[in-house]
Amino acid sequence: MANLAKIHPIIHDAAYDYTLPSWAVVSDARRSHVESVGRLLGNWSRALKLEKNTQARWRAAGILHDALKGVDPNILRREVGNSDVWSDPLLHGPACASRLRKSGVEDERLLQAIAYHTTGHPSFGSLGQALFIADYLEPGRRKIVRKRAEWRRRMPVDWHAVLEEVAASKIMKLLERRLPIPQVTVEFWRCITDGFK
Ligand SMILES: [Fe+2]
Ligand SMILES: [Fe+2]
Repeated sequence: MANLAKIHPIIHDAAYDYTLPSWAVVSDARRSHVESVGRLLGNWSRALKLEKNTQARWRAAGILHDALKGVDPNILRREVGNSDVWSDPLLHGPACASRLRKSGVEDERLLQAIAYHTTGHPSFGSLGQALFIADYLEPGRRKIVRKRAEWRRRMPVDWHAVLEEVAASKIMKLLERRLPIPQVTVEFWRCITDGFK
């Protein structure tokens, strides 16, 4: 739930110490990526003057979202319930959300943001949208560097336009590589173009 009076120790440690839980498997490069995403989310939540616990939850989502990125998809598949809807590269999101839930994290908005950070989700709130954007914009990414810098400059003020451009860019990449567009991404795209009506 949003605005929890007390936040779970895993969320607290991720937000305030950039610490990952003991079960996380991340390379050094991945650690610098998640810290970069956490910093962007921290900056945006502060700029938006969100309350303190909400800022902490945003930073934690950035730090934790790829906590199982280094685990074999066959192992992740056992962690995820309806695993047949997830292709291998997408499994680390729902698997991480599942692990966090088993560890006692009950923050549904944060769990949803992490589970669907690669695909997007039509019922994303601001945290889900922010993580989806930040994961794509963080300065460590090597491709379309100038475009990413421009998007970062426009955040969080020009939020909706950046979200639309980021989602379009991600979908275009899938099309260029002849990869399937997940159904949940199609639904997310429809919501973006409808202005989340
Ligand atoms: Fe990821
Ligand atoms: Fe990521």
